[in-house]
Amino acid sequence: MKVLLFRAKLSNLLKPNCIFRVSRMSKPFSRLPTCVVPTHYKIHLTPDLVNFTFQGECTVNVNIKEAVDQVVCNALDIGSIEGMVVADGKEFTAKTDLNTEDEKLTLKFDNPLPVGEAVVKYKYVGNLNDQMKGFYRAKYFVNGEERYAASTQFESTDARRAFPCWDEPAVKATFDLIVTGPKDRVILSNMPEVSSVEEGETKTVTFDRTPIMSTYLVAVVVGEFDYVESKTSDGITVRVYTQMGKKEQGQFALDCGVRSLEFYTKFFNIPYPLKKYDMVGIPDFAMGAMENWGLVTYRESCIFVDPNNTSATAKEYVAIVVCHETAHQWFGNLVTMEWWTHLWLNEGFASFMENLCTDRLFPDFKVFETFVPTTLIRALELDTLASSHPIEVPVGHPTEVDEIFDTISYCKGASVIRMLFNWIGEEAFKKGMQSYLTKYSYQNTETPQLWAELGAASGQPVKKVMATWTEQMGFPVISVKSRQEGSDRIVELSQAKFTAGLSSSNEGDVSKYFWDIPISIKLPNGEIMKVVMDQKSMEVTIPNLAADQYFKLNPEVVGYYRVQYSPEDLERLCASVQELSQLDRLNVLDDVFSLIAAGKASTTDGLKLLQAISKDEKSYVVWNSMSNAISRLSTILVDQPCYENFKRFVLTIFLWIKDDISWDGEPNETHLKTQLRMVVLSKLGRYGEHGVRLEAKRRFDAHVAGTKTIHADMRSTVYSCVAALGESSDFDTMEKLHNKEELQEEKDRIIRAGLAGFLNKELLEKALNFSLGSEVRSQDSPFLIRSVAKNPMGRDLAWQFFKDNLPELRKRYEPGPMIPIIVKGLFETFTTEEMANTVQKYFEENPVQGIDRNLAQALETVRVNAAWLERDLPNIKSFLDKCPINVQYL
Ligand code: BES
Ligand code: ZN
Repeated sequence: MKVLLFRAKLSNLLKPNCIFRVSRMSKPFSRLPTCVVPTHYKIHLTPDLVNFTFQGECTVNVNIKEAVDQVVCNALDIGSIEGMVVADGKEFTAKTDLNTEDEKLTLKFDNPLPVGEAVVKYKYVGNLNDQMKGFYRAKYFVNGEERYAASTQFESTDARRAFPCWDEPAVKATFDLIVTGPKDRVILSNMPEVSSVEEGETKTVTFDRTPIMSTYLVAVVVGEFDYVESKTSDGITVRVYTQMGKKEQGQFALDCGVRSLEFYTKFFNIPYPLKKYDMVGIPDFAMGAMENWGLVTYRESCIFVDPNNTSATAKEYVAIVVCHETAHQWFGNLVTMEWWTHLWLNEGFASFMENLCTDRLFPDFKVFETFVPTTLIRALELDTLASSHPIEVPVGHPTEVDEIFDTISYCKGASVIRMLFNWIGEEAFKKGMQSYLTKYSYQNTETPQLWAELGAASGQPVKKVMATWTEQMGFPVISVKSRQEGSDRIVELSQAKFTAGLSSSNEGDVSKYFWDIPISIKLPNGEIMKVVMDQKSMEVTIPNLAADQYFKLNPEVVGYYRVQYSPEDLERLCASVQELSQLDRLNVLDDVFSLIAAGKASTTDGLKLLQAISKDEKSYVVWNSMSNAISRLSTILVDQPCYENFKRFVLTIFLWIKDDISWDGEPNETHLKTQLRMVVLSKLGRYGEHGVRLEAKRRFDAHVAGTKTIHADMRSTVYSCVAALGESSDFDTMEKLHNKEELQEEKDRIIRAGLAGFLNKELLEKALNFSLGSEVRSQDSPFLIRSVAKNPMGRDLAWQFFKDNLPELRKRYEPGPMIPIIVKGLFETFTTEEMANTVQKYFEENPVQGIDRNLAQALETVRVNAAWLERDLPNIKSFLDKCPINVQYL
C-alpha cells in the first residue's frame, strides 16, 4: 500500500459534503449536511437485560438554517424508527430511510421545514449487542450464575448505534439522559443523578444536564457494583465502581483518580468542570479504557488492584491508564479535535501527559525510563516502514477511523510531544497549554491551533518545526562524523529519512523528506549543547573536546530520531559506555540494532556489542533492550539450523547477570529491579536454562498445592518457564486455574505467559481451540491467539487456526480493532518472501474490513526479515559457530 506524503491542506478535504476516498479499499464517505444542527438532546433509554434489547426515545432541539425537506443524521443497527419534527407549533410527520452503508438516517418530509428552531423526535428499538460497541451487554458470573450488565462504548462512531445523532466530534450539544432499568441495579451516566423514581420492578433515573460536548463522550452503565469514594481538594466526588464485594480493589485507582484530577487542575489552571468523576470496571471491554466525560469506563485489568495478586507492572499500568483518561477530561473532552484526522491530538497528547502525571504522582515508578522502550522505540520501529503513515491522516468512513487508533497516533504522537516539551521547556509548555485550553474550551480545534499557542508561549517556531513531524511519516537518521581542529571538535551532521532498506519498497523519492530537528549533544563534563537542525546538513563546533573524548547525541533519548556515528565516533562512545546514563546506553545499543535490521550495519557487530555490554551491565532498561534485540534476532533465526547455537549464545549473555538475580528479591527493592528479575529469569527459562525451569516448576507446584503462593510479580515468569517444560498436566492445571480465577489480570497472565507459552505443538493447538471456547472472554480471545502466534512454535499453527476460524472471528469482531490486532501479531514474525506473498494473496481472496494498514505493515516487516536473513545469515552462522559456549543446556 502506498502511503502519500500528506502535506496538502487536510482540512479542505474534510469539509462537510466533500466526498473523497483515501485508499484503494475505502468506502465513499461524506460528512453530514450542516443545514440542520442539533443544540440539545434528551435521550431516554430502557435496556432489557433479559432479552438483550432496548427502547429509545431521542428528542433533539435543532436549528434549521435552510428550508430543507429532509433531516439527515447518523444511525445504525436500530429499528422500528419513527421520526417527526415539531416546528412553529406544527407537527411534521416523516418517512424514515436508514442507509446502513453510509450509516445515515434521513427523515423525509412532503414539504420544506420552516427555518428556525425546531424539535426532532425519534422513537426506535435496538439490540443490546455482544460486540462491545454502541449500547452493549457485558457478561459476568456471580457464584457460577451468568449475569449481564449494560454499557456504552461510543468512540469513535458508535453513539449512532444507541440513538440517532449528529455523530461527529465537532457537532457538540448538551445532553439530558434518562435511563429506565431494574431497580436493584446501579445506573450511571456522565452527570450526577437528579432523580430516581421506582415503578414496579424498575426505576427511572434522570441525570443532570451535561455541558456542551461531543456525542462520542456520552455514556451509560447499568449493573451491579460496589464503590469506594473520595473527594478532591476542590470538592469533586470521585468514585471507583467495582465488582460486588471487591471494593477494596478500587482503592488504588481512586487514589490515582483524585490525585490526577488535582494535578491537571493545577497544570492546566482550569477547574474540572463537572461535579463528579466516576470510574467503572466493565466485565467485557474492547479497549483499555474510555474517557467518557465524568464516567470513565475501564477493562477490569486496567483499573482493579488486588494488593495480594496485582504485580508491580500491572499496578503501574493502572496509574498510567487513569492518568491518561483523566488528561482527556480536559484535552479531548473540554477541547476536542475538529475531525478524526486530528485524533492524534487527543491520543498523542494524553499518552504524553499520562507519563508526566504518573511521574509526578509516583516518581519511584520511573515511567520515563520505560517510556523509551515501550513508547518511543515502538513507534520508531513501525515508523521505519514504508507502510507507516503520517501522524495526521485524512480519514472518512468509520472503518478508516478505527484504523488510526494505532502506534503512530499514540506512541509517535506522545514521543514528538515529549520532544517538544524538552525543547521548549516545562514552563512554556504549561503556559501554552493553559491558553490553548482556555481559548478553545467547549470548542473544536485542529493541530495548528495548538502549535500557535505553544509557539506564542515559548517564542520558538513551534509550528514550523512540529509540522515536519506530524505531516510527513517516518523520522530522520542523523549521520555523525567528527574531526579535530586544535582543541575544538567539529561535528558534521547530516539528515536523511531512515528507511527499512528494502529494494522492493515503493516509498518513492525519500530525498524529499526533511525535518526541523531539535538536537542536543551531551559532553563528558555533563554539559548539554542544544541546536535546531533546520538544514539537511550542518556543522557544530564543540569547544575544548580532546581527541579521545566522546560526545553523544540525543541524551536521555528525548529526540524522535536515530543516530549513525562514524566508526571512530562510535568506538569512542562505546569505550566510555558505562559513563553514560542507562537510557543513553540503551540508545546506543538500540540505534545500532535498528541500523542492522535496515542493512546499514552488520549483525555480527551487534552480537559483539551484546557480548561487550552484558559483562558489566546491571540496569533493567538496558537488559530489557538487549532482550528485545534478542527477540528480534530470534524471530529471524527460528527456522534456521543455527537457532540452537543462537539459544546457547543468549544463555551465555544472560548468565552474566544471573548471579545478581534472586527469585524472591530483596525487601523494598526498586520497581526497576523487580522488572529486571522478571526479564532475566524469563529469558533464561525460555532459552533453556535447566535450573531456572526446574525452580519455576517447583514454585508452580507449591502455588497450585496452596503451600506457597507465588508473588504476583513473578507469576508470568513462572508460568512461562513452566510452559517451556511443556508438560501437558501443567497445561491442564493452568486451564483450570484460568477458569476459576476471578481477577482479570491473573486470567491475562495465565493466558499470555502460560497457555500460549508451551513449546509443544499439541498443547498449542489446545490453547488455540480454548481461545474461542466459552471459558475465555470475548475481549481476551484475540490476545491468546496473538500470543500463540508470537511463540516461535505456535506461529504456523496460529496461521492455520486463523484461516479455519475466520468466519467465527468475523462474526464476533468485524469491523473493529480486534481482527487487526490479531493480523499484525500473526504475520509479522514470518521470514520469507514466499510467505508474504501467500498471506497477501489470502487476504485479496478473503478481504477483511479495517485491516489494510496492519496487514501492509506486517507484510513489509516479513519482507524486511527476509532481506535481513538473505544479507547476513552466513555471517551470523559463522559467528555463532565460533562463539565460546559454556552453559548447561536442556
Ligand atoms: N479514547 C481511547 C479509547 C478508544 C480507543 C476508543 C480506540 C475508541 C477506539 C482511550 O482514551 C485510550 O486511549 N485508551 C487506551 C488506554 C491508554 C492508557 C493508552 C486503550 O484503550 O488502550
Ligand atoms: Zn486516549
